[in-house]
Formats: sequence, C-alpha cells, structure tokens
Amino acid sequence: MKCLALKLIHTHGIIHKYYFIILVFLIGALSSIFFNKFWNYVSNNTKQPKNLIVRRPFSIIGSDDHEIFDYDKSAHELIIRETEVDVVSDQDNVEALMSLLAANEMKAMGKGEKALKLIEHGIALAPKNPDLLNGYGELIETLRDDILTADQMYFQALIHSPNHKAALINRKRTQLIVDDMDWQQLKRIDEKRDMMASISDSNIALRRAKKEAYFQHIYHTVGIEGNRMSLSETRSILETRMAIGGRSIAEHNEIIGLEAALKYINATLINRLGAISVDDILEIHKRVMGFVDPLESGVFRQTQVFVGGHVPPGPSHIGTLMDNFSRWLNSESTLRLHPVRFSALAHYKLVHIHPFTDGNGRTSRLLMNMILMQAGYPPIIIPKGERHKYYRTLEFANKGDIRPFLRFIAECTERTLNQFLLSTTTEFSTDIPELDYDNIIINES
Ligand SMILES: *[C@@H]1O[C@H](CO)[C@@H](O)[C@H](O)[C@H]1NC(C)=O
Ligand SMILES: *[C@@H]1O[C@H](CO)[C@@H](O)[C@H](O)[C@H]1NC(C)=O
Repeated sequence: MKCLALKLIHTHGIIHKYYFIILVFLIGALSSIFFNKFWNYVSNNTKQPKNLIVRRPFSIIGSDDHEIFDYDKSAHELIIRETEVDVVSDQDNVEALMSLLAANEMKAMGKGEKALKLIEHGIALAPKNPDLLNGYGELIETLRDDILTADQMYFQALIHSPNHKAALINRKRTQLIVDDMDWQQLKRIDEKRDMMASISDSNIALRRAKKEAYFQHIYHTVGIEGNRMSLSETRSILETRMAIGGRSIAEHNEIIGLEAALKYINATLINRLGAISVDDILEIHKRVMGFVDPLESGVFRQTQVFVGGHVPPGPSHIGTLMDNFSRWLNSESTLRLHPVRFSALAHYKLVHIHPFTDGNGRTSRLLMNMILMQAGYPPIIIPKGERHKYYRTLEFANKGDIRPFLRFIAECTERTLNQFLLSTTTEFSTDIPELDYDNIIINES
C-alpha cells in the first residue's frame, strides 16, 4: 500500500516535471516569436522616409571655392494681406450682382471676353461673392481652357460658401484633373533631380553652374526684400569684400549675412537627417541679420508687428508656436510629404508666425532651401521679378488655399533644375551658364 502511494507520488512528480518542461519550452518559443514580430514592427516603423535617406544632399559652391572659371522700402518685408477690405457696401453688392447677370447674358450671346470683363469688375467690388467666383471659374474654364485658375475660383467660392451647389459640382470635375497635374509636375521634378544627381560632382560645367547659381540665389533673395544691389555688384562684394559706392551699409550687410547663413547651412545642417530644431532656425536668423542688426538677430521679436494687412501672433505666443512648428517639422506625417511640398509648407508656416522683427522672408526661404538640399534638390531661386506672384500666392494661402503657393514653389524648383541641366548638357557647356531670370534687372548696371 505504502509502496503504491510512493510510486504514485513518484510518477506524479515525473508528470509535473514534464508539464513544467513543456510549459517552459512553450513560453520560450512563444516569446521568441513575439519578440521577433515586435522587432520587425519597430524597425519598420522607425525607418526614415525614403525621400530623406537615399539622397545625396546638394552641396553648394560659392565665393571661396576657387574655380577655373532706389531702395524700395515698401517692399522691405514679406507682405501678407490677410484681411482685405471686408466691408462691401450694399451698393457695391448690388452692382456686383448686376455685372454677373450682364455677364451671363453676354455669355449666352457668345461674347465671352465681354462677359469675363464684366465679372472681373464684379469681383473687384465683391471679392468674396461665391456666385461671382464660381461664374468667373466657369468662364475661365471654357474660354481660356485654364483649369488651374478655374479650380482655384471654385475652391475660393467654397471657402466662402461651403455648400454652394454649382461650385461643388464644378469642383468635383476639376479636382481630379488638377490633382493629377500637380503630381505630374512633382514627378517631372523628381526625374530631373535624378538626372542631375547622376552628374558627377567634379563635372566642371556643373561646378560652374552651381557657383553661378550661388550668386544669383543671394542676389534674388535679398532683392525680393528691396536690396538694390545688381548681380555683378553682389558677386563683387562676395568675391572681393570691397564696398560698392552709392549703396547703403545695410545693403552690403544683407548680402554678407545671407552668405554667412548659406555657408552655415551647407556646413552643418544639410548633412544632418531629421530633427530641425527651433535653435537651428535661430542660428540661421542670427547670420541673416547679424551684420545688419546684431541686437535683434537670432532672437524672437518682443513687439507686435503689422505686416501689410496681416497681423502676426503677439510676441508672447511666439515661443509656443515655434515649438509646435518644430514638432510639425519633425513629425512622421510631415516627413512623408513630397520634399517640395514639405519645404514650401515649412516656408509658409514660418513666415505666417513671423517670429522675427525683420528677416522673416529670408529665413523662411533659407529653411525651405535647406529642406530641399537635404533631399538632394538644388536650392531654388525665387526671381525677384516674380515677387508679386510670390506674394499673391502667399495671400491665397492666408485665405485658405495653399495650393497656388505649392505650385509656385514647384515651378521655381523645376526651373532651377532646368537651368542646371541645360548648362551641363548643351555642347556650349563650357560657356558661362545662362541662369539669369530677369535680364533687364541684371543688366541694369
Ligand atoms: C559646401 O560644403 C561642401 C562640402 O561639405 C564644400 O565643399 C563647399 O565648399 C561648401 N560650399 C560653401 C559655399 O561653403
Ligand atoms: C500645432 O500644430 C498642429 C499641427 O500642425 C496644429 O493643428 C495646431 O493648431 C497647432 N497648435 C497651435 C496652438 O498652434
């Protein structure tokens, strides 16, 4: 009896041991599967977006790289008009609607151009009237075959009146076409960027084009803000460090500051992936404005500013807004954007916050170009001759439609790439590349 009990306990013990071993084995196997899956998940999710990793950053060539080869105050800062004259008098409204009626009559009679003029008159009187905006879009679409502008008009009509039936129907038709056009443009840009990346860095024509672009870049970006220095004067200051007679000290300092900022970006920021901090932006600004206004450079403004009709946030909000902005700059979803769109949005957001007393436009353009260079695109030139288009598209963004601005920046990117490709692929590539955008202004001196 006793013996049997012992035997039972004994076998029980063995069985328990068995279970125990099996259990340990199972736990081990399951957890290894689990950890494996978990690791895959984590490593997949922390992968850099492909736009940012595979690209060799664009390095600039400037005045130190020795190679074989009426002060307009009104334009001084980026002007954003947010609030147009909002008050439309009753009389204007009535007159605006009359022009719409008259325009419809003209249209019915086949007099399209007259109809267009009438509606333009109406929109000048009542710029937010959805019927007028929609009618204008329809005319532009049929008469001019200009689907981009038409879509912009329907979009605006819907901003002011989200349930406008006719605009909704029109927009449904144009949206797909326009989205497709935008993607085609970005695709072309990427093909050209890849073509450029395939040219060796030591290619002489490319090096010359880069150097030429460097001077033009500085010339145009300070020119947009009203600097009167010509391209050759800009070049001379940077190459010889000698002053130009008849130009103000500030104009000289703006050019020197911009070069310092570009070099800083080229030397430190473009090879660093990811995280762009508020401090980076301050460091850029410190160089842009350091020679012109040492005390205000590299620090946020302490006062309220008024830029045209746009009232940027008060100084006490800037810190928070900039922290939020840098979170946006580095967020997963932002990094998944196409680099051209990412850079343009970053520009828009920074200039909208307007964190500095002066130099916001230049700092925003540098930030935009830094993002582009990180992704392997050349820094783009916004020609000073296109200043008005640049401001107008920024105003559109303030009114709720950012697409015209994104398109404008994409156009500038494509044009910059075209110029680079042209200067390296023609048989005359040993000549000084033609990168000038507005000959008239460049040749003035
Ligand atoms: C930009 O950086 C590259 C290498 O990092 C350097 O060769 C080049 O001289 C720099 N350009 C300027 C203008 O500082
Ligand atoms: C912070 O950024 C997010 C995303 O860009 C935006 O939706 C939000 O309104 C911002 N908050 C403030 C206080 O600006």
